[in-house]
Amino acid sequence: MTIATNPEYEVSTDIARLNVAMIHEFLSRSYWARNIPLSVVEKSIRHSLCFGVYRAGQQVGFARVITDFATFGYLADVFVVPEHRGHGVSKILLRVILDHPHLQGLRRLLLATHDAHGLYAQFGFQALVSPADFMSIHRPGVYAPPN
Ligand SMILES: CC(C)(COP(=O)(O)OP(=O)(O)OC[C@H]1O[C@@H](n2cnc3c(N)ncnc32)[C@H](O)[C@@H]1OP(=O)(O)O)[C@@H](O)C(=O)NCCC(=O)NCCS
Repeated sequence: MTIATNPEYEVSTDIARLNVAMIHEFLSRSYWARNIPLSVVEKSIRHSLCFGVYRAGQQVGFARVITDFATFGYLADVFVVPEHRGHGVSKILLRVILDHPHLQGLRRLLLATHDAHGLYAQFGFQALVSPADFMSIHRPGVYAPPN
């Protein structure tokens, strides 16, 4: 379903339109999901609310929200391809995600980022107020190829 258009960029939640090969190519080189297998990307897409950004029919951005649609959402795998960066594409994407009707009224929306705090801060995200209240199991090397 196309849920927003602007003169240049279209955002859609239609999983069938996603360029999964491109998404995998990007994520497998990203700092947060390096070497992620295609099968894991495919499964993550099947079980998330996914947002593709398109320019002239070509996918140029992606994000997904892992959510119960009631209380909690985790924003993950946000990216814009390098050729389309710096034109506000991620801000169009964030606006569409946060306005999505199935993501209203959540008690908490979470994300993790190394360096894009300034992007998310524009949409109301703040650093954790009580980081000590949170715990995690984090396995950054989970996709590392065997030696
Ligand atoms: C981060 C990313 C999605 C931004 O996409 P973009 O379409 O180029 O960004 P936009 O043009 O919409 O502008 C983003 C705004 O956030 C700001 N910003 C803050 N941190 C940023 C960062 N690390 N990268 C890009 N922009 C950042 C920009 O300065 C800009 O501010 P402005 O509103 O004052 O112009 C894109 O650079 C990207 O895909 N990077 C690689 C993947 C990545 O790091 N994803 C985030 C993981 S949490």
